[in-house]
Amino acid sequence: MRLFLDTASVDEIRAAAKLGVISGVTTNPSLWAKAGGGNYRDVVMEIAAIVDGPISAEATSREVDGLVEEARRIASWHPNVVVKIPIDEVGLEATSRLAKEGVKVNMTLIFSANQALLAAHVGATYVSPFVGRLDDVGQDGMIVVAEAVEIFDRYHLPAQVIAASLRHPRHVTQAAQAGAHIATVPYAILMAMLRHPLTDTGIERFLADAAKAEGQRLLEPRHDP
Ligand code: E4P
Repeated sequence: MRLFLDTASVDEIRAAAKLGVISGVTTNPSLWAKAGGGNYRDVVMEIAAIVDGPISAEATSREVDGLVEEARRIASWHPNVVVKIPIDEVGLEATSRLAKEGVKVNMTLIFSANQALLAAHVGATYVSPFVGRLDDVGQDGMIVVAEAVEIFDRYHLPAQVIAASLRHPRHVTQAAQAGAHIATVPYAILMAMLRHPLTDTGIERFLADAAKAEGQRLLEPRHDP
């Protein structure tokens, strides 16, 4: 399972990219606003200069022709840009047209396996089930990830499942166990995946013992020939 970073913050992307574990980025209008807004194209171009992998940028038009036009424009920003399109009648029709032109689409706001199946049928490259938002309303969001993966495998559908709306490190483990192709994680979750208090105390103890051992070596009597 690959890891994408779920943010529009260039600082977070730069920090995560240095670790070498991020192979793509997902943004949406909320993340763009949270990161301070500005020109969306400029933000995406800055991200594309940092991460050499798929960068999702969301389209917001609400009618098919306008959405297709907007998606073509977003896709022309950079070869790595993937256009995020919410699933509904407008999104499906636009995606089926865009897929025929070779525009890569990340179909977003997926809340059921049937929505994922429809997205795969119209040629979306990625589908993004929103795990946390389903958990928030008392459903098990990870079931949608597992069902979509199973269906795509069984029918050899090439769409890749991005486990999205992840809220804690266990979600990432569960997404991997469910067979998600990708998990997109906020920076805070990436850091929470990395850290463990026993690792910290283990490092401290090794450093203290190394200093102690070094002191012992210096105190050893010299055996001159
Ligand atoms: C990523 O593709 C999604 O837009 C994002 O994970 C949504 O997360 P949220 O439910 O925390 O807003």
